[in-house]
Amino acid sequence: MRILSGVQSSGRLHLGNYYGALRQFIELQHEGEALYFIANLHALTTVRDAALARELTRETAVAYLALGLDPKKAVLFRQSDIPEVLDLYWVLGTVVPMSNLERAHSYKDKLARGVAADFGLFAYPVLMAADILLYGADVVPVGRDQVQHVEFARDWATKFNVTYVKGYEPADPTGAGGHPPGVLKLPRFRLRDETAVVPGIDGQKMSKSYGNAIDLFADDKETKKRIMGIKTDSTPVEAPKPPEGPLYDLLKVMAPPAEWPAIEAEWRAGGKGYGDFKKRLLDLFHATFDDARKRRSELLADPGEVDRVLDAGAKRARELAAPIAKSVRRAVGLG
Ligand code: ADP
Ligand code: TRP
Repeated sequence: MRILSGVQSSGRLHLGNYYGALRQFIELQHEGEALYFIANLHALTTVRDAALARELTRETAVAYLALGLDPKKAVLFRQSDIPEVLDLYWVLGTVVPMSNLERAHSYKDKLARGVAADFGLFAYPVLMAADILLYGADVVPVGRDQVQHVEFARDWATKFNVTYVKGYEPADPTGAGGHPPGVLKLPRFRLRDETAVVPGIDGQKMSKSYGNAIDLFADDKETKKRIMGIKTDSTPVEAPKPPEGPLYDLLKVMAPPAEWPAIEAEWRAGGKGYGDFKKRLLDLFHATFDDARKRRSELLADPGEVDRVLDAGAKRARELAAPIAKSVRRAVGLG
């Protein structure tokens, strides 16, 4: 089984990115051949400063490694190191219906928030599909907001195969039933349900663009300030607390499953104030991330090591992409 996913290098990573996406990538590296990349081409849709783009690419690589990605198990690379992806992006774009892109949730959400639409933003799902299909991924772990993009990749792979593979039968995509197999393999998304949406300190979805995030790698003082700033209601200390709201949800996301029933019992019993629970959350944060935070500082101090991992990753990713890139060129008449 080939597993593939990417994270855009467009800002500092927060708890939502970890519980919604990165954690499952790291768990999955033990289940198959895993490829993870830093989506620095996608990041250009929002980062318009070369020095910052470079810094965030490195930061994102370091974050993957600090959080437990093992370069002996998984391939880690920069999206921009594999030029073949831009080839496939174009070719795929010639079979992608405009109507699909017009109804893409992430694109529509951005327009609704007043982001000026440019071609890069519109074409974003096509590049993402090229990322997935170039490596013949079977499984794509993602956060909820990316599910539609993976489904598009699957639909467009079918469309490509129907267009360019003579005798291709969509009901028999692998050719097990005797039809010619597709050039592009059909991927599936994988979503972890329990932590699908992590709330920010104001109770909305946590997002770097809403100013409500708890970053994984902010300094101790800032982390404490954010956690102590989580919005709560006016339930008095002695009263039972309503089992809802961002503090409750964040405790639930962060508590080890064995500890959660005790925390929840205290929450419902009353007698403890929200301040106590915030301290509990801060302790959980440090218990969960301090090792990664330390590893991150070590890695940032050793850029040569990170470069070596990324260079080796790019080499391996290109090897894996080569046969598919070649078959695509041949199928359409470019090679
Ligand atoms: P942001 O909303 O901060 O800009 P991104 O859109 O860059 O985050 O998301 C990167 C990954 O992290 C995506 O796979 C997304 O699904 C996941 N993710 C981001 N925020 C959350 C959240 N609040 N809850 C769950 N997953 C999230
Ligand atoms: N769009 C994804 C995100 O914002 C990042 C990404 C780019 C990706 N290409 C991908 C994820 C391919 C999975 C597969 O998080």
